[in-house]
Amino acid sequence: MNEKKKKIKKVSVEPAKCLKELPPYLFGAIDVLKREAHRKKLDVIDLGMGNPDLPTPPHIVERLCDTVLNHPRTHRYPQAKGMPKFRSTVTGWYRKKYGLDFDPEHEAIALIGSKEGIAHMCMAYLDPGDIALVTNPCYPVHRNGIILAGGQPYDMPITEKNNYIPVLEDIPHDVAKKAKLMFLNYPNNPTTATIDDCSFFEKVVEFALDYNIIVCHDLAYSEVVFDGYRPPSFMETPGSKEVGMEFHSLSKTYNMAGWRVGFAVGGHDILKPLEKIKSYLDYGVFTAIQLSAVKALTGSQKCVKDTVAEYRRRQKKLTAGLNKAGWPASLPKATMYMWLRQPEKFRDMGSLEFAELLIEKTGIAVAPGIGFGSYGEGYVRVAMVTHYQRFHDALLRLKKFLRMGPP
Ligand SMILES: Cc1ncc(COP(=O)(O)O)c(C=O)c1O
Repeated sequence: MNEKKKKIKKVSVEPAKCLKELPPYLFGAIDVLKREAHRKKLDVIDLGMGNPDLPTPPHIVERLCDTVLNHPRTHRYPQAKGMPKFRSTVTGWYRKKYGLDFDPEHEAIALIGSKEGIAHMCMAYLDPGDIALVTNPCYPVHRNGIILAGGQPYDMPITEKNNYIPVLEDIPHDVAKKAKLMFLNYPNNPTTATIDDCSFFEKVVEFALDYNIIVCHDLAYSEVVFDGYRPPSFMETPGSKEVGMEFHSLSKTYNMAGWRVGFAVGGHDILKPLEKIKSYLDYGVFTAIQLSAVKALTGSQKCVKDTVAEYRRRQKKLTAGLNKAGWPASLPKATMYMWLRQPEKFRDMGSLEFAELLIEKTGIAVAPGIGFGSYGEGYVRVAMVTHYQRFHDALLRLKKFLRMGPP
């Protein structure tokens, strides 16, 4: 019985270098904070991740159930770039919404969520050391996709000072000459910034043509918009098909985050490498989910209106309450977020430290701005992803927290 424990032999192989270069995963950090709060038996109000709390509309769920039950042919491997019906639905959607024409065979592709498409787009174009231009702050995959492909992100700072729009003139000529991709995202996550028309995109097209750069525009929040605001599509810009492409997601529009379905459109030559890499690496989106996405995109859009109205109700509640409590906040034109500068009393703290203190003292989880890039420092992003009543509780706790000030 007192036999010595046998030493277990195991291998020790270094993971790929690019993994080491990744910053800590933002939502991993938030999860640690939440777990710690749960351990302390705090009642956590989770406004951290942009993970929609509302259910997928019933007509979309019903379509999935019916397809899975009654159409077993859909259980087979799908076509990696998406079934023809899905792709023609996407191009039909673009025609109806923006009056734009795309060839469903070559200019539209299904994605296992736009996150997948963004990461694979980087792999499709970047060799180790290649430069890609990305805003700072940004939705993390825009930057991390570049790093994972072995590329070098070059930051385009977006701040209150430049209205969260990159200043293209600030990009050094030698950097621009070497860059292969540029990532943009309006309405923007995390800053909620919007653009009114295509005038910035026109400059981007000119810049991309001058320097031979592919523009990847992320329009994930095209439908989460308020008070009649209509965000432009990059593809509405003259010349955009020659230089770029656009990503879309069904995750936020139809509360389908867990379903993993999105799409991209763009010039054939630009999409071809993405299609190729997908055909080698994945089999695309489960056919039953593609058919449910078709139902979502072609069915009644009342569900979208309802979702957006609920986000607005929550934003209004929070904005009014925060302003009353002395934490300045304003309503964004789009997205389900609010991008808040840290309250005056807490400006000496880093955003991670502030988010940690906030969850420790109030049980409220938010995303620290630093998690989206160094220029996000000093801010937090608050996602409207919990029940309206919970915002009432959150505000009571925040009032007390703000009155107390930093420790
Ligand atoms: C700007 C932006 N793009 C893409 C995504 C990812 O969407 P999907 O669920 O389609 O991968 C998100 C998710 O939060 C996002 O904010």
